[in-house]
Amino acid sequence: MFQSNILLPCWNDCVATAMYLINKTSSSLISNHAPSELLLKKKPLYIHLKAFGCGVKRDTFSSCKRLYEIVGDIIKSRIKCRASNPMSRNDDFLDVILDQCQEDGSYFNSDNIQVLIVELFYAGSDTATITTEWAMTELLRNPRVMQKVRQELSKVIGAGQMVRESDMDRLPYFQVVVKETLRLHPAGPLILPFKAKNDVELCGFTIPSNSHVLVNMWAIARDPSYWGDPSSFLPERFLGSKIDYRGQNYEYIPFGAGRRICPGMPLAIRMVQLVLASIIHSFNWKLPEGTTPLTIDMQEQCGATLKKAIPLSAIPFIEEN
Ligand code: HEM
Repeated sequence: MFQSNILLPCWNDCVATAMYLINKTSSSLISNHAPSELLLKKKPLYIHLKAFGCGVKRDTFSSCKRLYEIVGDIIKSRIKCRASNPMSRNDDFLDVILDQCQEDGSYFNSDNIQVLIVELFYAGSDTATITTEWAMTELLRNPRVMQKVRQELSKVIGAGQMVRESDMDRLPYFQVVVKETLRLHPAGPLILPFKAKNDVELCGFTIPSNSHVLVNMWAIARDPSYWGDPSSFLPERFLGSKIDYRGQNYEYIPFGAGRRICPGMPLAIRMVQLVLASIIHSFNWKLPEGTTPLTIDMQEQCGATLKKAIPLSAIPFIEEN
């Protein structure tokens, strides 16, 4: 998103601060607030922290403020750079959005793009990481699937070659592994809270206006009336199936559906696929002494995002020929 040489330290700081905030605020967000409501207000999240419980507010206020400052500094320095040399462009997301700001009647200005960029960090940092960790966990728990993925990668990519984004279309089995991971371990298990503006009749039920609606995607994706053997990790169920990520099939909506569907979906799928394929293809993986595929801890930690309660521990190694 940003030019890496100048901004890498800020980038790391940003991601670390965003992750800290997600950890600290996620359960309160789920229980008390609609994060999207906060996003729609287009005000810095820390302005709304007064609505959280005292402990959460105390722990997060300064980090939240810091995150906005980091992003604010990045924007300011880019604006300065562009003003001093109009030809200096990175043609990245920030440049595109700053171009928009300069257009007549634009809705964007440096305050609301700061909020937008922070929200993208907030929504994009944790979710993709969690999905990659769960995918790796399922692969280590299911050596049969891991072996099939490795065979496909060796055949399509070739030994010693780097995986590229353009290879993904030629990896059908690997793609369904990521799909199956998002079925069993959706990073946003309750999508995002919705709020009914008016009374709505749905399937014979009345949803009164102003009620918050949580869609339990986690439970839907494990419902035996839609899925055979729902608790098992079986990527094959998606081979030849028309079900995709775009929210057309309500039994499978890891990115939500409709107008509020995750805007980061194409980026997220590419990131998860590329990182996962690269680490599997570049290394062999084993579990630490004393852990077997059957004893890997699979507990989930409930919050706005669905983390592993105990982080995965796995050891990369290169096989001697
Ligand atoms: C595997 C990774 C990801 C998953 C599973 C995921 C899932 C979701 C889900 C379920 C929603 C709620 C959709 C709804 O309410 O219908 C959402 C919203 C959102 N996502 Fe993602 N997401 C991922 C990655 C990303 C990334 C990488 C970005 C940006 C860089 C991003 C940006 C957003 C934003 C801004 C929203 C709020 C949209 C709104 O309410 O208007 N997401 N995501």
